Amino acid sequence: MNKLQDYEVGQQVTNDEIKSINGFVKNLFKIKNPDDMIKDAGSSGLKKTLGAFDLIILGVGAVIGSGIFTVIGLATVGDAKTLGAGPALVISMLLASLACVFSALCYSEFASMIPVAGSAYVYTYATIGEFFAWIIGWAATLEYLVGYIAVCHAWTGYLLQFLKGFEKFLPHAITNPPSHLIGETPIFSMFADKINIYFNLPGILFTCFICWMLVKGIQESTKMTGIMVAIKLLVIGIFVGAGLFYIKPENWTPFAPNGFAGIASGAFIIFFAYIGFDALASAAEETKNPQKDLPVGIIGSLIVCTIVYIAVELVLTGIIPLSASDIKAPIAHAMNYVGQNWFAGLISTGALAGLTSVLLVMLLAGSRVLYAMSRDGFLPRILQTVHKKYHTPHLITIAVTLTCMVGGAILDINTAADLCVYGTFASFIIVCIAVPILRHTDPNRERPFKVPFSPWFPLLGIVSCGGLMVYYTYIKIINAPKNELMSTSPMLFLLWIIIGCIIYFTYSYGQKRKLEAINNNDKN
Ligand code: ALA
Repeated sequence: MNKLQDYEVGQQVTNDEIKSINGFVKNLFKIKNPDDMIKDAGSSGLKKTLGAFDLIILGVGAVIGSGIFTVIGLATVGDAKTLGAGPALVISMLLASLACVFSALCYSEFASMIPVAGSAYVYTYATIGEFFAWIIGWAATLEYLVGYIAVCHAWTGYLLQFLKGFEKFLPHAITNPPSHLIGETPIFSMFADKINIYFNLPGILFTCFICWMLVKGIQESTKMTGIMVAIKLLVIGIFVGAGLFYIKPENWTPFAPNGFAGIASGAFIIFFAYIGFDALASAAEETKNPQKDLPVGIIGSLIVCTIVYIAVELVLTGIIPLSASDIKAPIAHAMNYVGQNWFAGLISTGALAGLTSVLLVMLLAGSRVLYAMSRDGFLPRILQTVHKKYHTPHLITIAVTLTCMVGGAILDINTAADLCVYGTFASFIIVCIAVPILRHTDPNRERPFKVPFSPWFPLLGIVSCGGLMVYYTYIKIINAPKNELMSTSPMLFLLWIIIGCIIYFTYSYGQKRKLEAINNNDKN
């Protein structure tokens, strides 16, 4: 080979390389046309049964849970590592709900425009591209799965508290299960006590029940959610109604004992209580009139929950000056304080009902995001199989259930709740970014619901969610002892994203290209 031939061959290789690198980068940012998404969803076989009222019930069911029954105590009082907001938690609540409102409006615009299962994942795929869609789908899966795990641990705690009330009638073994069953004592430890394996038997059994409900049908699950929502709202209503008579305004001073730092920290902690309304967007394919009903469901449930939360906080801090020892069961404690001991049993009932509906919706949303990712070819296609009789994606629901069971054995409640908040922030921020992008790239698409004042409202969503996320990460990292830094929630979140990237580049990317090649062959 002479020098010229040598040069030409070399040039050819370089050109091929550049072409393949270009092709690779292009694939990462490949978007899916929303019309194709709607067409694919049309042939999914999922039953359309949900109306606006069902959606509000599902939304309130998904949102009101351990946040208001438990987390409110920590957010008000704080602990050794966390500043509490004091009675000023009402301001933290308004801040948290403001961050949610901007995101809720953005979710509503997308959900009414692209009413298909998958929520943030789908919206990112339609705007930013395949790789980011995968990462957001992966982060949203984290939100719902670890959110489920956190709430499931809390559910077991309340179940045991509930059973304690029947100590006289039930055998000792049921009302006082061995501590390893409630996740307090690890059965065995690995990696120098970093990962503990627990066995939350009541939680696992209940998770099987929830899975069975979801496989049987979304409408059956909605009926059950409706009953649970009615019970929890009744219990909260009784607390607020009865508590009004015991309010002493002097308990509201000092209003903000830790100043703005306490209010900001309270806003992050109580943010967990608002998580869930976004899950509604995942049920878009099972909604009768998604264009109209989804925005009503998403924004309606957020408004109901904000009103309920503020009423509870005002009554709670008006009745009793809470202290660090009262934060585990603040509402029951407040009623005991004013001599209404009968309320403790009722509160466990309300909390159990509340947490059950959160569990139902979290598992539902988690399975629907993965369902959408598998439909696009990023996960094994077998996961899209829809049950012949019930018309629900039963295989993915069972797979998600098993994952929650294994995850529940490894993660403790606080880490799970923290990770859930990270997954949620990531999804909210990306959905807020996606709205102005699609307005720019596809301005003529019909938008049955439009975020007002775009791009300012989406921008405020990005700033409020991003601000809370950065602030919390900073607090977590500076407070972590050096040898525990790697097991803090920001690091675990990073690890989850890295695992997601590895799966994408080693499996999903290739699967997607194969699917594209098959589809192209079919077309030719
Ligand atoms: N918002 C849900 C709860 O408070 C996650 O339990």
